[in-house]
Amino acid sequence: MVDEHRTAVVTGTTGGIGTEIGRELARQGFTVGMHGRDRARTEAVVQDVRRTTGNDRVHAFVGDLGKRSEVRALADAIAERFPSLNALIHNAAVVPHDRVVTDEGLEQGFAVNVLAPHRLNTWLRPSLVAGSARVVGFWGGGSDVLAVDDLQSERGAFDGWTCYCQTKNAVAALTLATAAAEDGPVQWFVTVPGLVNTPGMRNLPGRMIWFSRLLWWAMRSPAEGARTPVWLATAPELAGKSGEAYGNMLGSGWRNPLALPKTATDPEAGRRILERCAQLSA
Ligand SMILES: NC(=O)c1ccc[n+]([C@@H]2O[C@H](COP(=O)([O-])OP(=O)(O)OC[C@H]3O[C@@H](n4cnc5c(N)ncnc54)[C@H](OP(=O)(O)O)[C@@H]3O)[C@@H](O)[C@H]2O)c1
Repeated sequence: MVDEHRTAVVTGTTGGIGTEIGRELARQGFTVGMHGRDRARTEAVVQDVRRTTGNDRVHAFVGDLGKRSEVRALADAIAERFPSLNALIHNAAVVPHDRVVTDEGLEQGFAVNVLAPHRLNTWLRPSLVAGSARVVGFWGGGSDVLAVDDLQSERGAFDGWTCYCQTKNAVAALTLATAAAEDGPVQWFVTVPGLVNTPGMRNLPGRMIWFSRLLWWAMRSPAEGARTPVWLATAPELAGKSGEAYGNMLGSGWRNPLALPKTATDPEAGRRILERCAQLSA
C-alpha cells in the first residue's frame, strides 16, 4: 500500500503518448501505475521508465480494456495498491479497422474508448475521492459525429475512422456530464494531445493513413503530446476547476482551452451516454 507520495495511473502505456505521460509523471516524483494489456510489454516499459527516471515507484498493471472481467480485475488491483489516487489518465484507445464485437456484444471502440474509462471511474471511486483526483479523458478525431442512439455503430456500412471520432466525442461528452453531475472533490478534464507521431497514428484505417502520412512532418513527438495531459494532472493553477477541455492539434498553444465539437458538449448527449455506461458498469 502506497500513500505517502502523489499517485497516478495511466492507461495504454505500451507505446505512443501513454509511455511518455508515465515517464514524465515518474520524473516529477509520482508513484505511477502504468497500464498495458500485455504483461511482458508492460513490464518492459516499466523497467525502461524506472531506468530513465531513477524512480523505482513505477508499477505495472495489466488488463484488456475491451473485457469487463479484466477491467474489473484491473480496478481491484489499482484500488489495492492506491487507496488514494491523485490522477487517473485515460490515455488508452483503439482506432478500429473493422467492426469487432466484445464478449458482451459491444462494439470494441465503444467498449475500450468510452465504457472502460467509465468503469474505471466507477470502480475506482473510493480511491479517486480519497485522493481528490484529477481524471483526464482524451478527445480526438476532429469530426462532429455522435449518434447517441447508435453508440454500437450498427447502422449503415461500418467506417473505422467515423466510429473512432464518435467514441472520442462520446467520451468527451461523458467526462463533461460526469463533472456536471457531481460536486465532489474529483476534477474532470478533457484533453487532446495534438497530432502526434505514434504507433496508432501510423496504423490508421482506410483513407486516413494518407492524411496521417501527409501530415507526418508537422506531428508532435510522443513526449510533446504528453505535455497537456501531464499539465492537467499536476498544475496547481487548475485547482478547483472541473468540466473543462484543454489542448490543441498543432502549434504552440498546448495549454489553450480546447473548442470541442457541438456533439461533444451537448449536455443531453452526455447525460444519455452516462446513463448507458452506468447500466453497463452495474
Ligand atoms: N496520436 C495522435 O495524433 C492523437 C490525436 C488525438 C488524440 N489522441 C488520443 O491520445 C491517446 C493516445 O494516442 P496514441 O496515438 O499514443 O495511441 P496508440 O499509439 O495507438 O497507443 C494506444 C495505447 O492504448 C492501448 N490499447 C489499445 N486497445 C487496448 C485494449 N483493448 N486494452 C488495453 N489497452 C489498449 C495500446 O496497447 P497495445 O500497445 O497493446 O496496442 C497502446 O498502449 C488516445 O486516447 C488517442 O485517441 C491521439
